[in-house]
Amino acid sequence: MKRTSLASAAALAGAAALVLTACSSGDSGDSGDSGDAGGEAGTRACVILPDAASSPRWENFDRKYLQEGLEAAGFEADIQNAQGDTQQYATIADQQLTQGCGVMLLVDYNGAAGAVTENAQAQGIPVIAYDRPIAGADYYVSFDNIEVGRLEGQAVLDGLEAAGKDPAEAVVVYMGGDPADGNAAMFRDGAVEVMEAAGITAAAEPPGVWDGDESATNFEQALTSLGGEVDAVWVANDTNAAGVITILQKNNLEGVAVSGQDANVAGLQNILLGWQTATVYKPVKDEADAAVEVAVALLNDETPEADQTLDDGTPYIAATPILVGPEQVKDVVAAGDASAEEICQGDVAPMCEEYGVE
Ligand code: GAL
Repeated sequence: MKRTSLASAAALAGAAALVLTACSSGDSGDSGDSGDAGGEAGTRACVILPDAASSPRWENFDRKYLQEGLEAAGFEADIQNAQGDTQQYATIADQQLTQGCGVMLLVDYNGAAGAVTENAQAQGIPVIAYDRPIAGADYYVSFDNIEVGRLEGQAVLDGLEAAGKDPAEAVVVYMGGDPADGNAAMFRDGAVEVMEAAGITAAAEPPGVWDGDESATNFEQALTSLGGEVDAVWVANDTNAAGVITILQKNNLEGVAVSGQDANVAGLQNILLGWQTATVYKPVKDEADAAVEVAVALLNDETPEADQTLDDGTPYIAATPILVGPEQVKDVVAAGDASAEEICQGDVAPMCEEYGVE
């Protein structure tokens, strides 16, 4: 078997750079590796995205960057979206496998990727867990998700400091992501590490979800249970933060620290307007490029190596997240991951001028 070493080199301008450091053909034959799908199937990369509602990233960025990267490397990209439906996830996977796949890149949705992974591997097709972990996957390509959480915790502390509040005395609500997403626990672990070190404990913690409307409902109940008092909300992503912010606005609660993730348009607008302290910007192209590099190596029947592993031993390649407050919104625009036109609407326009977003 040929071996290719993929090492995530020092983060280059916030990107996890992957370097093919070695590529030598093995001396022994391909010992029992049934991974050579051969023919047309061997040139196809099959990708399943989870939904469109939890974050705009999947359709706006992941799809585009994965497709461009795979096609530029000369492979066919079959990219589909399960639209938040585990049944549809299984159906898409069956169809893709019937047509043939040389590799699968799966973003898990509610555990649906587990059975697909087993099925693919039984046919000798390697599986890359893309963005979210999947038990038994051959590779996990994502961001450093504990670090994502730490940056969210930092946003909470920054917002409290700006409001002149002592973290150890602050009323903080924890609004995590859907626990069916393996990343949600990592985001929470990182955030709690930073918040606890500053003396914060959760005043209330509704169930985790990836849904803006549900987050609004859950947060409103938590706020009522706290007698309408809140100083900070640790929120795991921008879609949920937007839901929380509708309730803060409804109750005229200004100056509350709020975190988020994904640097989506609503999040960036809320940051410029002062309703959200910061977001964790994850340049999706870094993650997609890393996944394409692993996929292409596997399609070429090479064995990529990663320089980290998850607790269960899965090789893990992690891109670097970046904290974005009002001053950095322009950097996300400059990188092409948000458009000033979309952000700078209505009330936001003067803030765009103030922060140089154009
Ligand atoms: C996470 C992902 C985030 C966010 C969230 C909601 O797994 O890493 O970027 O999009 O899901 O979909």
